Amino acid sequence: MVANQQSQRVAVIPGDGIGVEVAEVGVNVLRAISERFGFKLDFDWLPLGASHYLETGETLTDEMFDYLKNECDAIYFGAMGDPRVPDMKHAKDILLGLRFKLDLFVNLRPITLMHPEMTPLKRRGMKDLEFVIFRENTEGLYVGMGGNFKKGTPDEIAINEMVNTRRGVERIIRAAFEWAKSHHKPRVCMSDKANVLSYAHGLWQRVFKEVSSEYPEIQTRHLYADVMAMEMVRAPQDFDVIVTSNMFGDILSDLGAELVGGLGLAASANLHPGRVSLFEPVHGSAPDIAGQGVANPLAMVLTGSLMLTALGHKEAALFLDQCVQQVLTQGEVTADLRRSLGQSTEGALNTQAVGEALIQIIKS
Ligand code: IPM
Ligand code: MN
Repeated sequence: MVANQQSQRVAVIPGDGIGVEVAEVGVNVLRAISERFGFKLDFDWLPLGASHYLETGETLTDEMFDYLKNECDAIYFGAMGDPRVPDMKHAKDILLGLRFKLDLFVNLRPITLMHPEMTPLKRRGMKDLEFVIFRENTEGLYVGMGGNFKKGTPDEIAINEMVNTRRGVERIIRAAFEWAKSHHKPRVCMSDKANVLSYAHGLWQRVFKEVSSEYPEIQTRHLYADVMAMEMVRAPQDFDVIVTSNMFGDILSDLGAELVGGLGLAASANLHPGRVSLFEPVHGSAPDIAGQGVANPLAMVLTGSLMLTALGHKEAALFLDQCVQQVLTQGEVTADLRRSLGQSTEGALNTQAVGEALIQIIKS
């Protein structure tokens, strides 16, 4: 890490599709924030993505990986996915490659209602929808272990292994408890399918029990993943911190995002405390709307806020969240959010204009 008091280096990987458009807004907004709060961020734009892959055959080279690991303080990631690369090889190598190789075992996905009109749930307000999901990010069904036998024949066998290590399960559960404790959140709920996956998720159950005994001040709860999906919709106010495995975290975080305004507002942080971490909006590259200037940049901006917190600029991050709340209140948002807010799309802003509206608030 090269962090010093003068400046911190942020590698920007805009990626593909709308990733490029939202990253530009995100960086401009972060520049304005850093000026206001008097710290310095150096942005290094890196060309990783589909075009670079198609031109050079390179996805994530060892050299690039070493640079990110050793010389950057954070990675600000747009989105990856391009119809010209149907097997998503570059996206897997780069995004999953960075998560695994940097050992970013926490995928933190906040579910926060930022405007009362943004939830599809009846009778639920801002106080009811404020929790975080701690998704395990380096194991489970994502390890890519498995294979095909007799592929393409009627006798084909296809296997993907689900890996759960004692160490991996313990560190994500502990991270969830630590976060709850430091943020004065009294409740941690763990979700698994131990009723079916008795070996793998039996381990989660045992570890959860053990770790929770170290945090007597925190109330614990357990829900099977299917029940969790139901309860998140039925009684979201009952959650502060949810901790779960990689695949369930993937699914439940999309459900959670939809409860508070959709993927256009969903931010995430891939963390390994003390190491360079990666910050990405939950949404993808949306090739269908890429290049039109209509993409909603607020998930990328809120992802920037998570990055600011991790870089030690907590106050700036809180202020940035308030600025986002203000553009929502003023309806200075893209058409997708105007619709969610029940407003006419005629007053919708384009991607860049949302950034400008934010910067104006930041500078005021
Ligand atoms: C996410 C995405 C990724 C995941 C895909 C693109 C591999 O859905 O970040 O939620 O499944 O983790
Ligand atoms: Mn996902």
